[in-house]
Amino acid sequence: MANLFRSLENEGSIFKDERALLPEFLPDVLPHREKETKEIALCVKPAASGKKPENIVITGPPGTGKTTCAKFVRNELSGYSKHALPVYINCWEFNSRHSILSKLAEKLGHFLPRRGISVDEILERIVEACTKEKIIPILVLDEVDSLTATVRNEENVLYDLVRANEVFSINIGVIALTNSREFSSKLDSRVRSSLCQRSLEFNPYTPQQLKDILRERAKLAFILSAIDEDAIALCAAIGAKRGGDARIAISVLWRAGKEADKKGAKKLSVEHVKSVSAGLKTKNYERLGEIEEKIVDFLRTKKDGSAMSGEIYEALNGSERSLRNYLNKLEETGYLSGEDVNLPTRGKSRKFSLVE
Ligand SMILES: Nc1ncnc2c1ncn2[C@@H]1O[C@H](COP(=O)(O)OP(=O)(O)OP(=O)(O)O)[C@@H](O)[C@H]1O
Ligand SMILES: [Mg+2]
Repeated sequence: MANLFRSLENEGSIFKDERALLPEFLPDVLPHREKETKEIALCVKPAASGKKPENIVITGPPGTGKTTCAKFVRNELSGYSKHALPVYINCWEFNSRHSILSKLAEKLGHFLPRRGISVDEILERIVEACTKEKIIPILVLDEVDSLTATVRNEENVLYDLVRANEVFSINIGVIALTNSREFSSKLDSRVRSSLCQRSLEFNPYTPQQLKDILRERAKLAFILSAIDEDAIALCAAIGAKRGGDARIAISVLWRAGKEADKKGAKKLSVEHVKSVSAGLKTKNYERLGEIEEKIVDFLRTKKDGSAMSGEIYEALNGSERSLRNYLNKLEETGYLSGEDVNLPTRGKSRKFSLVE
């Protein structure tokens, strides 16, 4: 049964558990990242049986699930093996060789004084603990490009980690995450060849993929009767248009939920999404085809940027079937959002709105 106080917290709200939409939430299921999580898991799997894992560099634009997938694998691994010790480090926060190795030593059970201990001493303790306990650390180095951005050659820590096998006869695995495609090229060639044994690119999510992700989250976050498919589709379209970014899509959904609560609504709606997304900055996207451009231009002439499908067919004077295809395509690529509307005289029709 849900906690009594938590249910009181949500009284009069469409939220059941808002936390499922907050940035720190780690989902149990990761739609459309099954292949990627498996690939990461296969790299680190040898560590579970005491063997040398492979290193992997993961790149991809913001909000494509890199951190989430790496944390998911970390959790699965720690529940599976006592040999492998996953350690998550955000290199924005820990951006020096000293601080990263200290954190690793700490995870291995050595609490070190903040100052007064040299990197060589820390390494010695790491080697000792790994050898004695037969532990293979798997370091998730998030935002790893922060290391190459410093002037102090902090990326040397990567050298310590990837050459640990040769130099100290211990095994360490590295999962390096970054937005930067140039990251690898900035590395010393000896580090590069070991660190980039494997590489994996996370692609932007399509609107359909974002819809699936949002649906899962919405089930956790909202009471069932409050969920609206069109509102979810619009959040997905907004995330897709802004680089296929799940973070943006989820945050718009959360803010739309807050807006619905503020208005005392019992259900999410496209209007709630529109009102919270109005302030988002637009981005330049690849050029549209001629007909698509005409559709977008026509909608721009509308005060609220939207029109019923019939009106669009009429204005563009084209075949209904081909226009319908263009509209679907624009919806799929996140330029437009569609919603079903019941017309009193003509039954069901579809309204299309610009996603700005
Ligand atoms: N496949 C997915 N299923 C469920 N939620 C996802 C998925 N992918 C991303 N998310 C959610 O989207 C948000 C952004 O994901 P994440 O932080 O992993 O992106 P990232 O690629 O690490 O971005 P950045 O490059 O900005 O660090 C998180 O809230 C995460 O829970
Ligand atoms: Mg990240």
